[in-house]
Amino acid sequence: MKTLLILFVVIFSNRGHCTESQDQVLSIVPKTQEQVDIVKNVSTRYETVLWQPVSPHYIKEESQVHLFVTANSSKTVKDLLQKHSITHKVSLANVNELIEMQTRINSTDPRASSTFYHKYHRLEEIYDWINRTSQDNPSVVKVILIGSSFEKRPLYVLKLSLNNMPNKKAMWIDCGIHAREWISPAFCLWFVRYSLSYYQQHQDITNILNSMDVYVLPVMNPDGYHYTWTKNRMWRKNRSISDTSSCVGVDLNRNFDANWCTQGASPEPCSEIYCGAFPESEPESQAVADFLRSHKDSVQLYFSIHSYSQLLLFPYSCYLDEIENHRELSEMAKEAAEKIQKNYKNTYKHGAGAKAIYLAPGGSDDWAYIHGIKYSFTFELQDRGQYGFLLPPFLISKACNEALTAVKSIALRVVEKT
Ligand code: ARG
Ligand code: ZN
Repeated sequence: MKTLLILFVVIFSNRGHCTESQDQVLSIVPKTQEQVDIVKNVSTRYETVLWQPVSPHYIKEESQVHLFVTANSSKTVKDLLQKHSITHKVSLANVNELIEMQTRINSTDPRASSTFYHKYHRLEEIYDWINRTSQDNPSVVKVILIGSSFEKRPLYVLKLSLNNMPNKKAMWIDCGIHAREWISPAFCLWFVRYSLSYYQQHQDITNILNSMDVYVLPVMNPDGYHYTWTKNRMWRKNRSISDTSSCVGVDLNRNFDANWCTQGASPEPCSEIYCGAFPESEPESQAVADFLRSHKDSVQLYFSIHSYSQLLLFPYSCYLDEIENHRELSEMAKEAAEKIQKNYKNTYKHGAGAKAIYLAPGGSDDWAYIHGIKYSFTFELQDRGQYGFLLPPFLISKACNEALTAVKSIALRVVEKT
């Protein structure tokens, strides 16, 4: 019995430490051009997925690379880095454990449970939630089908209309453009719950919802999101099949008609930043663009929610030029970042996308701006790489509350102006 117990303890305690058998994320800093080339090479071979930057093209000297490596290839990759004296450390040793934490099924009834919003949910659960939310709030929540995905999944928008003043303006929030950024759909759900719970309770959200309807698209890329739950947690793009390549998927945030497929996007179907065959070639981006075109007169404010990096971005990402109302948006983003800092002691940078991170044409925020929505923002939520896309459920509330603070702060300013 005693030996059995010892054996058990040894096996059990080994599980946590035996990280060599787990997928990992490496944090790498190349110091010379030669090292940059090696890291680029490594990231395109072996079983790896680049987390940061999004494409090997952006890897540069003295800047951090976050690279996911499978258990299979981790030794080979590390040996290679070692051999070329490239600085690196394991930033996440227990990827499989973290994925398990994010996907653990809960037996509690999601209907009643307030912990529902502190968890990540599979696509089917999100569809159920959409249904339930509209059924439970029939006078204020409408479901609008704006199109369907490449694999024919419905794209539902929730319209929150908390009071029926005539000629109301509107804001739009989309989540889940990029499949692996799970905190993003979680935010859309969080936002809807908050709006429905605190209207007439809290001043700010009440003021906002008195003057604006809100359109919320909780999952813009349902095929990709489903794929991250079932096949590959690290998937980014949608799941459309190309005529010319066996590589799957278009980066929906490079597929909009905003200086489309120029520097910062790729015409190569195998790239993570593939722009697609032509602007709005993808049913998901087309559905969003069509909807916004047909609501041109009411939608004044656009938000797109991503992760990770902690950034509050505004146009342009597709040009280096400043937009005409740069100062105004910069002020709004700055104020929002300051409120996050004050309330949550967490730092968010703000700026025009192209300057703050990189040129990234074909994005939804730039398209919305060019199309006439003069207040247009992309948020990159928590964190800055500690967990990256694998942000544990216990951090959902803080991440969402920070983003909510920023959305409210900016929306209030827009309400005041009009
Ligand atoms: N990380 C986001 C992306 O690469 C940034 C989005 C900023 N906006 C943009 N239009 N690129 O898609
Ligand atoms: Zn993203």
